[in-house]
Amino acid sequence: MKITVTVNGEQYTREVEPRLLLIHFLRDELGLTGTHWGCDTSNCGACVAWLDGVPVKSCTVLAVMAADKEVRTVEGLERGGELDAVQKGFAECHGLQCGFCTPGMLMTSRWLLDHHPDPSETEIREAISGQICRCTGYENIVRAVRWAAEHPSDEEVTA
Ligand code: FES
Ligand code: FES
Repeated sequence: MKITVTVNGEQYTREVEPRLLLIHFLRDELGLTGTHWGCDTSNCGACVAWLDGVPVKSCTVLAVMAADKEVRTVEGLERGGELDAVQKGFAECHGLQCGFCTPGMLMTSRWLLDHHPDPSETEIREAISGQICRCTGYENIVRAVRWAAEHPSDEEVTA
């Protein structure tokens, strides 16, 4: 099937098999390997990207379901050479170790802060509860999201 998907503001048209998963479309067809493929069973959350503004596990979405829709991946967080506040927060608070879970954590965190700019620790933990981190024990991830909430970028403050 021929599909056109807008990813991080850019339109891509590709012939794909109907069974192709969005995660593989992003990684293998478009070369956007920032979105990680961890389990393929909807458990780990490393594959989270946004589909029309909503975080989805891209291993559970067919590429054809993204046709004529907007996808945002971790590559789309940075704007104009400036890291997003959540990216800065993860760097500041050592919110990652191996980094495998990080793309999904960042995308969910950005969505959370867009909708709840001042989340409690409980709300952060609930937001990332669909994602597994084997390394950090989650403490520094929560601190990183709180850091981002306390240091919004100028764009987010004026939005
Ligand atoms: S690869 Fe999608 S949830 Fe693990
Ligand atoms: S930093 Fe290694 S899985 Fe989260």
